[in-house]
Amino acid sequence: MLVTSGTKQAVAHAFTTLLDPGDEVLITSPYWVTFPEAILLAGGVPVVVPADEARGFRVSVDDLERHLTPRTKALLFVSPSNPTGAVYPEARMEEIGKWAEERGLWVVSDEIYQHFTYGDVRFHSLPEVVPAIADQTIRFNGTSKSYAMTGWRVGWLIAPKPFVAAAGNLQSHVCGNISNVSQWAALAALRSGTASVERMREAFAKRRGAILAGLERLPGFECPPPDGAFYVFPSVAGLLGRNIAGRRVDTSEQLAGLLLDEAKVAVVPGEAFGAPGHLRFSYALADDQLEEGMARIHRLLA
Ligand SMILES: Cc1ncc(COP(=O)(O)O)c(C=O)c1O
Repeated sequence: MLVTSGTKQAVAHAFTTLLDPGDEVLITSPYWVTFPEAILLAGGVPVVVPADEARGFRVSVDDLERHLTPRTKALLFVSPSNPTGAVYPEARMEEIGKWAEERGLWVVSDEIYQHFTYGDVRFHSLPEVVPAIADQTIRFNGTSKSYAMTGWRVGWLIAPKPFVAAAGNLQSHVCGNISNVSQWAALAALRSGTASVERMREAFAKRRGAILAGLERLPGFECPPPDGAFYVFPSVAGLLGRNIAGRRVDTSEQLAGLLLDEAKVAVVPGEAFGAPGHLRFSYALADDQLEEGMARIHRLLA
């Protein structure tokens, strides 16, 4: 295990350690903004495998197989997902894990939202579902989401020993080590157990219900309920190509700009995640702020 400055540094160091120039990494879109950049910075090539909304933003083995080339080195797997909140069921993970093993691929598994699933949906870890891939798996996690400790900057990667040793050598030249004040704080959080995480999950479950109910009443928004994380990722295709509040809105980026300027509500346009025509809303904020934000959007768009 290597402790890193937030999970972001784990992502960056993992790809730099893993990739030779030109190595390809399969990433499913919509993807978290940092992933393609971290792969490119490491000299690799992100190969985007689209996961469309009609199939719950989840890919199949056939989708992955179609994007495989002799240069494919790794599969990046993220469940629950940022930005879609999609969570893979165990059976699909088994198929994907076995496929990666047969193809001799590394699996890079980001598990940072592991505690945030809703209803009957459960989180599973790929190397636990398919133990045979453990020797070729790099897992990411951290305290930013589960313990709301984003500013403390503590994450980690778990990987086979030689990989951790190589990533550790890289880290020692980049930043030495992570502030030990932060490491002690993270340790205290982890030792405190998961009762606080569960309280937070319950609060998120309520906010998820509130934001879905609010968006449902807005014309032009289509929002399949996400199973995990703390985001909703509605399609706003129904609003594009119109004038809204005196402004022409043709893209989700322009719609996000309008919401920011006119309603003072910040959302991230789908363009950033490789999925134009959508907006990402985070509901990791206080109940009253969420209510106020939704009220402002309704005044502008309803
Ligand atoms: C999927 C995913 N991985 C990693 C991170 C990075 O988290 P941090 O660097 O704060 O630990 C984020 C943050 O948004 C994320 O959404």
